[in-house]
Amino acid sequence: MTTTDKGRLTGQVAVVTAAGQGIGRAVADRLRAEGATVFASDLNAELLAGFGGETAALDATDYDAVQAYFAGFERIDTLVHAVGYVHQGTIEECSPADWRRSLAITLDSAYNVAAGAVPKMRAHGGALTFIASVASSLKGFPKRVAYGAAKGGVIGLTKAMAADYVAEGLRCNAVCPGTVDSPSLHQRIEELAEQFGSRDKAWDFFISRQPSGRLGKPEEIAGICAFLASEDGRFITGQTLQVDGGITI
Ligand SMILES: NC(=O)c1ccc[n+]([C@@H]2O[C@H](COP(=O)([O-])OP(=O)(O)OC[C@H]3O[C@@H](n4cnc5c(N)ncnc54)[C@H](O)[C@@H]3O)[C@@H](O)[C@H]2O)c1
Repeated sequence: MTTTDKGRLTGQVAVVTAAGQGIGRAVADRLRAEGATVFASDLNAELLAGFGGETAALDATDYDAVQAYFAGFERIDTLVHAVGYVHQGTIEECSPADWRRSLAITLDSAYNVAAGAVPKMRAHGGALTFIASVASSLKGFPKRVAYGAAKGGVIGLTKAMAADYVAEGLRCNAVCPGTVDSPSLHQRIEELAEQFGSRDKAWDFFISRQPSGRLGKPEEIAGICAFLASEDGRFITGQTLQVDGGITI
């Protein structure tokens, strides 16, 4: 972070979901480091212990709970929604329950949070950012049928909302990471170790998908979210920003 960046978000009220770990936590830390007052929430409140800002337990799939949470805000300048869930499977391996769970966690939660946040943002503008994925309408990956569909939905939601609110200065964008080294990735690798023959081979598989030769870091996604929240990002709306180590070159 440059010296200038340190005060770049001073005076902003920022809300970050799924802030307990991984990308969401890195975003919450980064917005706070740049001067925003950050309200961090997660399904698992225990993961928020140690975060310096305001914290709350919030299940983003629960429409009523999400609306009640946002009712407590007078004004929001920046929202970053990082909730998502990866189901691994083809269409034949995706049960109706897998499909519904994927859509509920990844796409319904985005609707819930946007519905709660927009009334607190539109009067003065701001930046609403969804963490989507390159596994979406941007690119097909094997065994990502439910995840790809749900994240593609998030991108559609982003673009439609950007069109609705562009004149009011409320900007909506989707940050689309490649594979990022996060706790849930470690969990996925544990689950895939048997299938690949070893944990190392499962790691190699994920790294081999990255033309950059390495995984992304949560901080590298957080920096883009801070940029979008700042004055430097004020002419960007309705976009997907691929932060993917070259996957979509
Ligand atoms: N890690 C990657 O490789 C990668 C790549 C592309 C996109 N993404 C997306 O980035 C986002 C964050 O992923 P990650 O891997 O950094 O984090 P993670 O999966 O390690 O952590 C997710 C967090 O979300 C919380 N959460 C789960 N369900 C929730 C709910 N219903 N309500 C509120 N919080 C809930 C969990 O408690 C956890 O703290 C997700 O949307 C994911 O799809 C991740």
